Amino acid sequence: MTAVCPFNRRDEIQVWSITLAVSPSTLSYCVSLLSDDEREKARKYRYSRDSRRFIAGRAALRFLLGSYFNWAPQKVGFCRSAEGRLSLSFGPTSAVSDFNLSHSADEMIVVISSLRRVGVDIERVDAGRCAEQEWASVLSPAEMYWCADASHGERVRKYLTLWTRKEALLKADGRGLQVDPLCLDVTETVQTATPFFYSCPSLSPSQWTLWDLPLGGRLVGSLASEGWSRVPKISYFSLPADFVLTPPSFGAPMGVGAH
Ligand SMILES: CC(C)(COP(=O)(O)OP(=O)(O)OC[C@H]1O[C@@H](n2cnc3c(N)ncnc32)[C@H](O)[C@@H]1OP(=O)(O)O)[C@@H](O)C(=O)NCCC(=O)NCCS
Repeated sequence: MTAVCPFNRRDEIQVWSITLAVSPSTLSYCVSLLSDDEREKARKYRYSRDSRRFIAGRAALRFLLGSYFNWAPQKVGFCRSAEGRLSLSFGPTSAVSDFNLSHSADEMIVVISSLRRVGVDIERVDAGRCAEQEWASVLSPAEMYWCADASHGERVRKYLTLWTRKEALLKADGRGLQVDPLCLDVTETVQTATPFFYSCPSLSPSQWTLWDLPLGGRLVGSLASEGWSRVPKISYFSLPADFVLTPPSFGAPMGVGAH
């Protein structure tokens, strides 16, 4: 496996779009990239569709992160915080400082950062997801007001846009939904062009930069990165569904070393 995708800038976040709808032959190869624990987890899913998504997603994540170190995917080790945040078992390095991921049905986004802590969230816009009381429990009155002035379909998109901004922040922070999403009021970001600068004392650290991701179709998503004094470069890539058969090649590998 020789695919390598180094960062082009010292302060860069690479956003990878990945489809989890892989062919049966790719899927069986993906299984071979997983750890024993991951294979065990894949076996426990009730529905084969969910198992397929987990296998394809975890293999793609191993493949991608391995590429930054010029390692085989199987060599990548993970650990998980008490709140569920996945990270590299050996901590931040000069090749990859942080990563985060989000999935929705057959889509997955992985963000990989050279320097900063990051969080990402994506959601599928589904017109059925419009239980106003539910949204009022996670969005502030000002946020609800911003969404109200829109047609039904557009309103759902607005709710989900605000929601993905909050989740991206909470995932970058690492505590996820252990922090009440109502603590974050992101309405101040709604009228300005992406990226937004956002400050909230409930988050650690308090200052963040937020982007709405240009995902297209029925997906909305946001990316949060730590700090706002300098804006990192954002680069977008997509991993082909048959990535294990035709790995992309991006140039020379980055060195691995502790920060
Ligand atoms: C993180 C959280 C917001 C994810 O929400 P989601 O929209 O259902 O899921 P997404 O697809 O966007 O993201 C899932 C991925 O986020 C990552 N993740 C999980 N918990 C996370 C956290 N606290 N912070 C950052 N990232 C997290 C994981 O990599 C996970 O994928 P994986 O399980 O395949 O490794 C939600 O699960 C949460 O708040 N969890 C924390 C709750 C908690 O404290 N749990 C205690 C352990 S039981």
